[in-house]
Amino acid sequence: MKNSNGLEVLSVQFFFVFLRGNALRHGSSWRSSRGIFAFLLLGVCVSAVATWLYITSLDSDITETLARQGELVSPQPRVYSIQCSEDYENYKRYPGCTPQKCGRAVTDGVVNREEAHVLRRLAERGLALAGSEGGASILDLHSGALSMGKQFVNIYRYFGDQIRDVFTAEDFKLYRDVRGRIQTIIAETFGLDPRLMYLTKPTFFSRINSTAAKTQHDEYWHPHIDKVTYGSFDYTSLLYLSDYGSDFTGGRFVFMDQNGNRTVEPRTGTN
Ligand SMILES: *[C@@H]1O[C@H](CO)[C@@H](O)[C@H](O)[C@H]1NC(C)=O
Ligand SMILES: *[C@@H]1O[C@H](CO)[C@@H](O)[C@H](O)[C@H]1NC(C)=O
Repeated sequence: MKNSNGLEVLSVQFFFVFLRGNALRHGSSWRSSRGIFAFLLLGVCVSAVATWLYITSLDSDITETLARQGELVSPQPRVYSIQCSEDYENYKRYPGCTPQKCGRAVTDGVVNREEAHVLRRLAERGLALAGSEGGASILDLHSGALSMGKQFVNIYRYFGDQIRDVFTAEDFKLYRDVRGRIQTIIAETFGLDPRLMYLTKPTFFSRINSTAAKTQHDEYWHPHIDKVTYGSFDYTSLLYLSDYGSDFTGGRFVFMDQNGNRTVEPRTGTN
């Protein structure tokens, strides 16, 4: 169950909450981040009942393909509903904000290919500063966390002023813009007021390849539930920046629900 060729998979993951959330458990904060392959997948993880399994090479486990690489899901997202998890009852509820309607959504309508490539180059430049010794590296522009060997460093502290030469103002502008588009799509899809949603942490780029895992942070393939891992998350989104079938093979994204597993074959942007 891993990315079966040596090629890379890049994506960026955004998490939204309604109120700025609880403190993050840093030790485990990267554990669930690894599942990132390629393509723009806007995965909205509203229900903790469902877990995600990020990749699989065992076709027999797969019951349904939700989105194929070759098809374009745009402009309307492809959505299916699920029952909201009881996990939400363990957290404070914010009327009008806490999910009332739960489901999964996939869309290709967030970025075009050119924008995806700009984001990808941004991530590659950042990750080129260090990177994990194992197969999964992350870069969090908000906290500054970057994988380095078997640990993480804060790029803003570690590299200081050098960082100004790595990222441009236009990079950050696009990044913020895309983040806003994702927020809008989540709000439209789930009937929410986008002004009541706040980005929570972590938010990061991931790069995954088939180098053997050296620490548990590299083990991106385990099924997981963001609501359980992070607590503060109500909606999770993943924007893939590489293509299933050409940039990588093997690793697909799977929504695991009680009534079946639904796979997404990642794709980079609209066209
Ligand atoms: C995975 O990526 C890292 C960083 O770019 C690289 O050093 C390593 O050789 C890659 N592994 C494979 C199997 O391609
Ligand atoms: C979903 O996939 C997992 C992991 O491969 C498997 O254990 C489980 O039985 C599958 N569920 C269904 C309903 O097919």
